[in-house]
Amino acid sequence: MAKTVEDRNVVRETTEAQIAVHWGEEELYHPPAKFIGQANLTDPDVNKRFSEENFPDCFQEYAEMLTWDKHWHTTLDTNEPPFWKWFVGGKLNVCYNCVDRHLAKYKNKAALICVPEPEGEAPIAITYQELFVRVNEMAALLRDFAGLKAGDRVTIHLPMLAELPITMLACARLGVIHSVVFGGFSGEACGTRVADSGSRVLITIDGYYRNGKMVDHKAGADIAVAVAAQEGHTVDKVLVWRRHPGQYASAWPMIEGRDFFVDEKLKEFSGKRVDPVSMDAEAPLFLMYTSGSTGKPKGCQHRTGGYLAYVTGTSKYIQDIHPEDVYWCMADIGWITGHSYIVYGPLALAATSVIYEGVPTYPDAGRTWRIAERLAVNIFHTSPTAIRMLRKAGVDEPTKYDIHFKHMTTVGEPIEPEVWRWYYNTVGKRQAVIVDTWWQTENGGFLCSTKPALDPMKPGSAGPGVPGIFPVIYDEMRQEVPAGSGKAGNICIRNPWPGIMQTIWNDHKRFVDVYYDKYCKNRNSKDWRDWPYFASDGAMLAADGYFRILGRVDDVINVAGHRLGTKEIESACLTVPEIAEAAVVPAVDEIKGRVPEVYICLRPGLKPSQEIVDKVTKAIETIIGKIARPKAIHIVPDMPKTRSGKLMRRVLSAITNRMNTGDITTLANPDIVEQVRELVQGKEPVVLQEGPEDLKQFGSQE
Ligand code: PRX
Repeated sequence: MAKTVEDRNVVRETTEAQIAVHWGEEELYHPPAKFIGQANLTDPDVNKRFSEENFPDCFQEYAEMLTWDKHWHTTLDTNEPPFWKWFVGGKLNVCYNCVDRHLAKYKNKAALICVPEPEGEAPIAITYQELFVRVNEMAALLRDFAGLKAGDRVTIHLPMLAELPITMLACARLGVIHSVVFGGFSGEACGTRVADSGSRVLITIDGYYRNGKMVDHKAGADIAVAVAAQEGHTVDKVLVWRRHPGQYASAWPMIEGRDFFVDEKLKEFSGKRVDPVSMDAEAPLFLMYTSGSTGKPKGCQHRTGGYLAYVTGTSKYIQDIHPEDVYWCMADIGWITGHSYIVYGPLALAATSVIYEGVPTYPDAGRTWRIAERLAVNIFHTSPTAIRMLRKAGVDEPTKYDIHFKHMTTVGEPIEPEVWRWYYNTVGKRQAVIVDTWWQTENGGFLCSTKPALDPMKPGSAGPGVPGIFPVIYDEMRQEVPAGSGKAGNICIRNPWPGIMQTIWNDHKRFVDVYYDKYCKNRNSKDWRDWPYFASDGAMLAADGYFRILGRVDDVINVAGHRLGTKEIESACLTVPEIAEAAVVPAVDEIKGRVPEVYICLRPGLKPSQEIVDKVTKAIETIIGKIARPKAIHIVPDMPKTRSGKLMRRVLSAITNRMNTGDITTLANPDIVEQVRELVQGKEPVVLQEGPEDLKQFGSQE
């Protein structure tokens, strides 16, 4: 049960399931006049400029925000659908656009402000000039010591410290393709990504602060190298930053000839300058691995020109970033939000971007707001999970601080209208505009959101497609679900856009199958209109053209706004020798939205024990990371299965979430359902919930 404070300060109790069910049409909120007065995008003509008849040329407006070495000759090349090419013939360097070009006007302005978790350590401001120096030195090290050149891949496993964007920008300066693995992922998860991307260099750090403790991070690199080796891939060099230069904090020894301290090596490149390498607009800029419906994460490959143009344009128009703003996105750079809206978009616009090392509620509920107050943050960007967490930790806490946001963002999961209202009233003090931005790792940048100065906000709804994006909802029969019908369907994007990924690294077929197969109208057509992009999200379209995102329709669980594949977690469980079968389902969680819950069957002759449960938890944490830690692990005698032997996760999900299990008469073993139910819920029947929309759909494809 969550206690929520509403507008009128009435406290009432509500469950998420009730919210989802009673989540009707909400009243509109209008952007404050003060915000409109200073906004980047106030001309309603934008809708015409970015209308379908002006597609694809409308996106030149975003490309023109960048500095090109050579202008493109073709805005969109559709010759090889769905492998769209953007700004073909153009050349540019991403690092130049995010750093060098700002020196003339902004060299003494902070590019990054890095806030260490220990409150006794003061924030560190890095000016554009200083960023230029550091990125050049790191680029020199990568080129001249590590031997990297354009097109090579590098895996970066770093936490939220300045070293991360500096390393990314150094790669971009050389045209080296970076693959950042979220710092919270385990060494094993990192190793499989190292092998898949073919990275010969892995960049890590000895440790960092989290929740008041120094985490030993180097351990992950050693495991990653070993896991990659098992997959037949050799890592030549491990470059190790140190949280405190000169002092090594890890218990894991440095391996001679393989591991090198970056701070030591950098001394050899002091003051060195490296010319930015002029890259083709279509050259890959980075890979970002994400979960899908199979056990193997997909390496989403993002391009140079289209990606940077798209994140710059949307940072300007949707995030309303000006060079004068202090912008704080609390996401981790290890996820796509951090790439696009902490590093590349804000820096391309010469903003000041804040990076915080640690936990938002450490050491207490006021930490986030103290940081915002101290740095005079005026744009704040976070996820519903963080908002729920901050609200729970201190419902009145934001009122105690002198914080004034002009603009706030929510991203990553649906936000309950009541949580939205707390964000608006208490955090934003009714002075800030809110954008609810819907998009995915694959997309590069926002797909649906209100335009902050032009469109009213509707709690719980992402809003219309952003400029140049034309979403549509199709049903399973490929029919369009009309606006205002009250029916849910699969949200698709009818057109290509510059931020869409190029392909899945090393797996072009999977790219076509996952995103285009379902709704392609004609495989032989070179007309983009025949190739809608299938997002794997359920959605509803209101009569006013606002989309409400309901959640994933595939086997992906959205934990705290982060994607985890059920199959990835199941295969981690199966590495425990005692386990014969495993099924993972989403459980509703008050703070994190969804969390995995695990069902396991033991090998014949074995008895359930806490030891086995602990082994499964450990396996999941080791193979994926703590982020995938299950809410509960149930050892059951058998799994509900169809007559053809298919595991019915839908039934288990219904039991976990106290929902109706539906028709089970066609199962091969219907009696097992009651046995499992009793094990999980107890002997007495429980009150059933209707359950949120995504859970009603969960497993429906099985
Ligand atoms: O289900 C949608 C949900 O997050 C998924 C994408 O996750 P990921 O690739 O990790 O990227 C997250 C940040 C861009 C989507 O398929 N999602 C994302 N934004 C929203 C959302 N659900 C509802 N509302 C949103 N604003």
